[in-house]
Amino acid sequence: VVIHNDRELEWAGYSTRVVVGSGVLPQLSACCRDVGGFSRALVVTDAQLAESYAAPVVTALESHGMPAGLAVVPPGDASKSLDQASRLYNHLAKLGVGRDGVVVGVGGGMVTDLAGFVGATWMRGVTTALCPTSLEADIDASIGGKTGVNHSAGKNLIGAFHHPRVVVIDTDCLTTLPDRDLSAGLAESVKHAAISDEPFLAWHEAHAAEILEHDRPCLGELIDRNITIKAHIVARDEREEGGIRALLNFGHTIGHAIEAVCDYRLRHGESVALGMVAECRLASSLGILEPACTSRLSALLEKLHLPTRLHESLDLEAVSAYLRLDKKAVSGTPRFALLKGFGAPVVQSDVPAELIRKAVESILPR
Ligand SMILES: NC(=O)c1ccc[n+]([C@@H]2O[C@H](COP(=O)([O-])OP(=O)(O)OC[C@H]3O[C@@H](n4cnc5c(N)ncnc54)[C@H](O)[C@@H]3O)[C@@H](O)[C@H]2O)c1
Ligand SMILES: [Zn+2]
Repeated sequence: VVIHNDRELEWAGYSTRVVVGSGVLPQLSACCRDVGGFSRALVVTDAQLAESYAAPVVTALESHGMPAGLAVVPPGDASKSLDQASRLYNHLAKLGVGRDGVVVGVGGGMVTDLAGFVGATWMRGVTTALCPTSLEADIDASIGGKTGVNHSAGKNLIGAFHHPRVVVIDTDCLTTLPDRDLSAGLAESVKHAAISDEPFLAWHEAHAAEILEHDRPCLGELIDRNITIKAHIVARDEREEGGIRALLNFGHTIGHAIEAVCDYRLRHGESVALGMVAECRLASSLGILEPACTSRLSALLEKLHLPTRLHESLDLEAVSAYLRLDKKAVSGTPRFALLKGFGAPVVQSDVPAELIRKAVESILPR
């Protein structure tokens, strides 16, 4: 076991202990004991991860005197649903998990969002603990307190803010993560670097090969720096009211539209990569960003095996319609987090529809 970092993140009235390291997965139980212990635990995971990652967590909890049940949902974002949440409430009731219990999520962002939501709502909120296993969950989904499930009218429409008390991130989990998912997660890392930390962007450029080879110290550092960036932004605007947390939407306004219009055939991170490129071009057309920044960002994304241009064509009308209805839209006008430079993001609405269209066109197949 190598611990890369062990720290307490502070939010208004809450704190989250975050442990990052290699081989640290079973430490979840010691962390749970350290924060007071729990009378019972429900461990939630998806079927692909149950044996390799969730079972050892159950064993560890029981060895620390915390009886634990295991609930397995099918893999895939369709399990982020009220139906599955309802099944999990049945598990909690059957196990007798009360206010002194804990809901533990072991998995990617789908599982951490679902388990987080169930923990946020069971008995008006019990303690949650997370063991993220995908890079997306390590550096984004498990940090910041957003939990939720999807509705037929859209993704993440039902949810609650509820910080986990403990997050244990074992970089060894990433060894089994498919390359495509590792790259998809890296899009969020590039996003964090682009909006707040130019030296970290340069770090990605220098370490791309090691990152893609799953070099553990490198991934430990990457995860750690991402958590610092995200936590810093979230702590200043926990409920996304002050316009600061909205800066995390860089690449996501156009990215979400591409993701939806392509019927979720692309990974979220792939859509975000395309969204970042398009939104950089948009910022240049508004005269706020040097075109050289777009080239630098595109080159880095390609180095990390992320797309910077679509392989299929896109219904531009459907994209505009999506942007008008987006959660981030204010009275039908999309809101963007644009770059004025690396480390200098700005939230902007009232962007001419024609410029948005041109920016989206710029990532269409040649
Ligand atoms: N709450 C937030 O702030 C936030 C932020 C970003 C993303 N999200 C949510 O996260 C979800 C996407 O997360 P994701 O990309 O992790 O998806 P996911 O949880 O669906 O995982 C993708 C696939 O990878 C598999 N997997 C996960 N870890 C693995 C491992 N170590 N080895 C092998 N396979 C592994 C899973 O079984 C699944 O099949 C979306 O639902 C998104 O809305 C939430
Ligand atoms: Zn994202």
